[in-house]
Amino acid sequence: MVPRWCGGEAQRIVVERSRGDTNMVLISGKMSDVRAVRKQQQLNNLVAMVTRLACSGDMVVDFCSGGGHVGIALAHTLPKCQVLLIENKEESLVRAESRCTELGLGNVGFIQTNLDYFTGPFQIGVALHACGVATDMVMDHCVRAGAAFVVSPCCYGFIQNTVKFTFPRSKKFLDTLSYKEHMILCRFADQTAVQLPPERRLIGKQCMGLVDLDRSWRAEAHGYSVEVMTMEPDSCTPKNNMLLHLTSSTQKLSLVTVSLVVTWGPSLEPQAGAVDIHAPMSVYSPRSLSSPSW
Ligand SMILES: C[S@@+](CC[C@H](N)C(=O)[O-])C[C@H]1O[C@@H](n2cnc3c(N)ncnc32)[C@H](O)[C@@H]1O
Repeated sequence: MVPRWCGGEAQRIVVERSRGDTNMVLISGKMSDVRAVRKQQQLNNLVAMVTRLACSGDMVVDFCSGGGHVGIALAHTLPKCQVLLIENKEESLVRAESRCTELGLGNVGFIQTNLDYFTGPFQIGVALHACGVATDMVMDHCVRAGAAFVVSPCCYGFIQNTVKFTFPRSKKFLDTLSYKEHMILCRFADQTAVQLPPERRLIGKQCMGLVDLDRSWRAEAHGYSVEVMTMEPDSCTPKNNMLLHLTSSTQKLSLVTVSLVVTWGPSLEPQAGAVDIHAPMSVYSPRSLSSPSW
């Protein structure tokens, strides 16, 4: 793994809705104002992290790009990098392409495909809310390409074994949880919607942390150093975890307040009818994610 640390100080770019200013990036389309603000906040987190990792000439791939929110913001912020949008829905890519044309961005490419078929070289992989197993596919692609990554997962409840992927992903989790127990963890991890009672959401957040810890440990077995963070503000999305590959110098990061503390304790007492998960009680802070105490 080539350590990556090319960027300067982390920038917080503000991705504005277009008001005719050519410096502003058009991202919002038909989103409501509230959604657009939240999307801007999500983008700020990802773009700031990628900006720190990117070197001039890098190929940055926005996996599961949808209409190109992340990729377009990156292409605008990193004019010396090439950005490739990979998405399997044609209409989303057509929308992304017309946005890029409108903005005069010349450093963006588009590939309509299932991300699994993409085999090209790249230095940084990004994925904002790649659904369920798609996040694992992205992380595997990045590991195979030796690329850095910044991903924010979603749809934990859809995670399940596939022909290519089995869960849990890491040896430590495999030693502790059965597939069925891991599935239960994933179902709880999906319970972070704002409409739910705070205590349910807290459990959801904790379970999200554990699912992503398992993913991180899988990547760490391949020489990566991964950190699980919470986007700022944490209200920008109920699926606000962000996993990034770090080098030792990245400990200098101050942009994102690391607030994910995963507790495996009484709040995760098995529900009636659920499988008993015999895990020892531990508390992690993100700084100790790679050296847990269990
Ligand atoms: C929740 S959307 C996120 C879109 C975008 N990243 C954003 O945050 O605005 C997930 C997108 O991933 C795409 N997708 C899911 N699985 C995929 C796969 N295996 N290959 C390519 N695209 C995929 C879907 O079509 C969808 O557009």
